[in-house]
Amino acid sequence: MIEVAVIGVGGWGKNLARNYYQLPEANLRYICDLDPAKLEAMQRQYPGATTTSSYDDVLADPELDAVVIATTGPSHYELAKKALLAGKDVYVEKPFVLEVEHAVELTELAEKGDRIVMVGHLLEYHPVVARLKSMIEAGDLGDVYYIYSQRLNLGTVREDENALWNFAPHDISSILYLLGKKPVDVSARGQDYLQRDVEDVVFLTISFEDSTMAHIHVSWLDPHKVRKLTIVGSSKMAVFDDLESSEKLKVYDKGARLSQDYDTFAEYVGLRFGDITIPYVKTGEPLRIECLHFIDCVENRKQPRSDGHDGIRVIKVLDAAQRSLKNNGVPVAID
Ligand SMILES: NC(=O)c1ccc[n+]([C@@H]2O[C@H](COP(=O)([O-])OP(=O)(O)OC[C@H]3O[C@@H](n4cnc5c(N)ncnc54)[C@H](O)[C@@H]3O)[C@@H](O)[C@H]2O)c1
Repeated sequence: MIEVAVIGVGGWGKNLARNYYQLPEANLRYICDLDPAKLEAMQRQYPGATTTSSYDDVLADPELDAVVIATTGPSHYELAKKALLAGKDVYVEKPFVLEVEHAVELTELAEKGDRIVMVGHLLEYHPVVARLKSMIEAGDLGDVYYIYSQRLNLGTVREDENALWNFAPHDISSILYLLGKKPVDVSARGQDYLQRDVEDVVFLTISFEDSTMAHIHVSWLDPHKVRKLTIVGSSKMAVFDDLESSEKLKVYDKGARLSQDYDTFAEYVGLRFGDITIPYVKTGEPLRIECLHFIDCVENRKQPRSDGHDGIRVIKVLDAAQRSLKNNGVPVAID
């Protein structure tokens, strides 16, 4: 049984607390938050867990195995570092941290201390993303030309991070995971309509080492709620719509083929319109799958899929995108 503490039980952290409470492989030992009202509500819901506002007390418990950090982004680095130095395995919600050096430091610290650090890149644990990954690897889509994703809503407006840092970690992590390729540069444009210097809408374009490209549109100021990822391949195209209740994945047998034997331009570029299929994907709450993965890694000393290195890769793209954003979209190289 893995003893877990959840730090921060706001809008998202309470979902993590629920999952760790429900998993038979874990014991929700502590719930820690600075807000007494939240602690009171959690105590009523999970009477077996100790609620506290003292993070130091949590870390001082030698029986505690793992710390799950679900506070807001700016506090992740300090809290995760303290937990690693206290010898705990750590899960950190996205965005991992706000500086590339901090991501590197935490990853090295974990490796030196033989501790696990895992980043909450939820979509890497989504069953549809897993299916897309195996389709790409099997060559079912042909060569992937480009991917684009949209994460839009008229939703919670943050003051401590912009729409890029709040939403795009999901899109960047899933696209890097799906492609398994090295991003070369990123160009980002956006605008701060509601609060100065906090962009509400961001469009970013990532180039990869070959001609593959990815485009991400994130916004909390949009009339539509959209969670969609489209992959255009040389053989087939696929659309993952996470707002669909059951038919989340559609595969389009569509494409364009260049002919060697032609008289007209229309014959040279032949368009192909085939079937649209809806593969069956066994559903499951991605967060539960992610929590199970963390517990499995802690128990069996495995490297998580979204480990510190994955966190570094994503933060490097976010950092370059942020610099491009402040420089009118000039492409910024990703180290
Ligand atoms: N994976 C996802 O799909 C997903 C979705 C939403 C949010 N998130 C991430 O989860 C994290 C939390 O987001 P949220 O929307 O729940 O934020 P929130 O503001 O609703 O909650 C944060 C909570 O952390 C507490 N807190 C802050 N500093 C603390 C500290 N030092 N010690 C203990 N508690 C502290 C606050 O009191 C608050 O209850 C963010 O990193 C966010 O990006 C992930």
